[in-house]
Order: sequence, then structure tokens, then C-alpha cells
Amino acid sequence: MVDLACGHGLLAQILLLLDDSSPEAVAVDQRIPKSAATLDAALCEDWPRLKGRVRLIEADLRSVPLYREDLVVSAHACGGLTDLILARAVEVGARVAVLPCCHDLKTGDLGGLEGWLDGPMAMDATRAAHLRNHGYRVFTQQIPGDITPKNRLLMGEPDQP
Ligand SMILES: C[S@@+](CC[C@H](N)C(=O)[O-])C[C@H]1O[C@@H](n2cnc3c(N)ncnc32)[C@H](O)[C@@H]1O
Repeated sequence: MVDLACGHGLLAQILLLLDDSSPEAVAVDQRIPKSAATLDAALCEDWPRLKGRVRLIEADLRSVPLYREDLVVSAHACGGLTDLILARAVEVGARVAVLPCCHDLKTGDLGGLEGWLDGPMAMDATRAAHLRNHGYRVFTQQIPGDITPKNRLLMGEPDQP
């Protein structure tokens, strides 16, 4: 499991708790905040099975190798960063789940849908269509809006695993 633009890496930690079948998670950010270590220590105290299983890597997400077997995830990768993450997952045919935010309506692809849908919705619908065009089965959900107003969850897995 690979959490890209991970910030303090909480998503990687939570996904390992929810799915113990993944041996480890890799969490990548160009600037890992100090709070990541504090968070890791606190979580490992309550869930010792997390110990040593989340590898935090400070790097540009463009430079990290990805593999077909990976599950690529990202919460709140701002603007075009979400598209970069989708592209990186598609490149290797990995499963992917993103929660987009900070939609940049000037530079992003709205797919011509802005006459019917509001800009961010048009952009996310276009992202879903883009995944389908690359041979992905697409799943869409929303997480509760009181967790974050940017709550559209876009998930995809290759049609031919
Ligand atoms: C809005 S934060 C989201 C952090 C975390 N996923 C969360 O939900 O709390 C976006 C993160 O993307 C990171 N980021 C931006 N460009 C990046 C890049 N090219 N490579 C790696 N991380 C990047 C930033 O450092 C920042 O931590």
C-alpha cells in the first residue's frame, strides 16, 4: 500500500489497521512533518501490530517506484497532484483510491461538462471517465461531509488484473 502526498501518514496507518493483510505501507511526501513520528509512536502504543510497518519516505512522489500489485492511495492531493497520482497508478496498472481537493478549474480537465455540473464535480467526473478509458473499473463513494467537505472518493482497479 502506497500513500502518496501522505503528510503525517495517518491514511497509511489507518488502512493498515483496517486491512491487516498488507504487510507494509509506504508513505511518501516531499516534506514529512515532525508530527509523523509522534503520530506513529502514539498509534503503535495502542496498536503494537503497526510497529515498523509504515515506511515514511521524504521524496517527490514522481520519483518513487510503483508496482502493479500496489494499492495507491492519496487523500487531499491538491489540484493537479491528484491527476499526477492517478497517472502514476495507471502507468503500472495499480489499484488506486483518491480523495481529490483544491480543484484548479483554470488548469484542470473539466471534460466539457461544466455546462451541466459544477466545476469540481465536472473535473472529478472527467477523472473517473479517464480511468475507465484506461481499462479501469471505477467505484465512486462519498465519505461523511463532516470529516471533510472535499469528500468524493474515486477508486479504480484494472478490468484485467
Ligand atoms: C493537503 S496535503 C495532504 C496531506 C495528507 N494526505 C492529508 O490528507 O493530511 C498535500 C501534501 O502533498 C505534498 N506534496 C505536494 N507536492 C508533492 C510532490 N510532488 N511529491 C510529494 N509530496 C507532495 C505536500 O507536501 C503536502 O503534505
